[in-house]
Amino acid sequence: MRQDRSKKRVRAYREKRYRSLDQRIVHHLEARIIRNHLVRISRPGDTILDMPVGYGRFVDDLRRHGGYVVGGDHGEAMLGLCRETFGAELPLVRLESDALPFADDSFDIVTCIRLFQHLHDPAARRSTLNEIGRVTRRHAIVTTYLTSPLHTWMHNARSGLKRLTRHSPADLHAGLEEAGLRLVSGKRSLPVLHAQYIMLLEKIDRA
Ligand SMILES: C[S@@+](CC[C@H](N)C(=O)[O-])C[C@H]1O[C@@H](n2cnc3c(N)ncnc32)[C@H](O)[C@@H]1O
Repeated sequence: MRQDRSKKRVRAYREKRYRSLDQRIVHHLEARIIRNHLVRISRPGDTILDMPVGYGRFVDDLRRHGGYVVGGDHGEAMLGLCRETFGAELPLVRLESDALPFADDSFDIVTCIRLFQHLHDPAARRSTLNEIGRVTRRHAIVTTYLTSPLHTWMHNARSGLKRLTRHSPADLHAGLEEAGLRLVSGKRSLPVLHAQYIMLLEKIDRA
């Protein structure tokens, strides 16, 4: 019964999330930046961890650019939706972002799209970035929300929306350094109006 309710909820989320005009534009701009990063870094046969995979919004794009995609998420209902959409060809792992169940350097690329704004505990945010740096062998594409007065005001003005946590530029740079990741390129998906910041990161070779 509870499982059915969760399934219904995630299906409704998938149908509605990027339907409105403003969200369709946000999705389009975000997907374009991510695709451009992939063109730059992906090589045939790459392994890519998409974490959190959600309902699989980026799986087709990642497959077009990389060899082998693995999806990870802590939501069983989200993983179930991915299973229905992609079948057994998409390996799925239930996981927590701050303690990834993979060895060091397991993937060529890790993508972490739209997670950090939902992680409110500073320790979990820090460990998640460290885990991304640990399990990637080469690159990561990570999004976060940066402090942005206009976006905060617009978000607060729309009642009933989820709480969001944002990185300050100083916190973000300290976190990247600790995680052993170098910022190759950082772009706001919609400058001034939106807080989302999309980063292409490279693992620092500490050997
Ligand atoms: C906004 S969705 C983003 C999904 C996908 N990357 C996308 O952009 O469509 C956030 C996802 O993060 C997952 N999630 C939240 N906290 C998590 C955590 N600590 N570890 C793993 N997954 C988490 C949720 O289950 C949800 O599927």
